[in-house]
Amino acid sequence: MDTNVQKRRENKKSLRIKVISLGNAEVGKSCIIKRYCEKRFVPKYLATIGIDYGVTKVQVRDREIKVNIFDMAGHPFFYEVRNEFYKDSQGVILVYDVGLRESFDALDSWLTEMKQEMGSQANMESIIFVVCANKVDLTKRRVVDESEGRLWAESRGFQYFETSAQSGEGISEMFQAFFSSITDMCENGGKRPNPEVSIGFTKEQADTIRRIRNSKDSWDMLGVKPGATREEVNKAYRKLAVLLHPDKCVAPGSEDAFKAVVNARTSLLKNIK
Ligand code: GTP
Ligand code: MG
Repeated sequence: MDTNVQKRRENKKSLRIKVISLGNAEVGKSCIIKRYCEKRFVPKYLATIGIDYGVTKVQVRDREIKVNIFDMAGHPFFYEVRNEFYKDSQGVILVYDVGLRESFDALDSWLTEMKQEMGSQANMESIIFVVCANKVDLTKRRVVDESEGRLWAESRGFQYFETSAQSGEGISEMFQAFFSSITDMCENGGKRPNPEVSIGFTKEQADTIRRIRNSKDSWDMLGVKPGATREEVNKAYRKLAVLLHPDKCVAPGSEDAFKAVVNARTSLLKNIK
């Protein structure tokens, strides 16, 4: 075959991508990458200083993908170093530690920092995000359960994985899905698929489940004022029941939220004449 034609075909099949890791210090970002690239785990904590850079090659279908991995330091001290590296990423691995709620709560601020640093050229729709609920091997100290993490991720159109860099659980599945989604996006003109079509539940359902989880009492859960009438309680209940009924809602945590709403209504009606 003509060598130029052959070269062009090879170029079409090969792809270069840039991915970054984000999340609080010590959640396991470097260990997840090390587990995948070097198939090993280091129990001793060696904080990333600013940024670590590595390259790996992966095969997705008939394409060879050259992956540039920028492993960010999570410590606030390294903000000035980190902020240079957000631009031009096709993929982001967002990591939290299932035993540290603050690392889960911090995910939103990591997205905010990223958007800020990317400035006006920020196009978050052209980036694949995966969420790693890491350290699932430490079951006794777990405080953020699967449905809570999955809901946060999937309601934003991000894939969710339970991982352990220590045991290797979920790591290769996560990377395979991550690289495959990035390849799909590149082949699809650089746009990721509409999340609501692919996940099967709406933002309203996800937000309602989150609100119910965080409500302070039964009134708050049903979204009515203390002292509301039976009719008001029933009306609010019916609206939530339609939204969250397990036959209709597949969002993570919807069954528990539905049960909580039923219980809230029962206990309120007991005390209203
Ligand atoms: P920074 O570089 O400071 O942002 O931290 P990091 O997120 O890269 O954390 P790192 O990968 O260095 O891991 C922090 C600590 O958690 C280390 O002591 C790891 O051995 C430990 N660790 C990481 N992943 C796991 C895991 O899945 N299970 C357990 N048990 N420990 C883990
Ligand atoms: Mg690190």
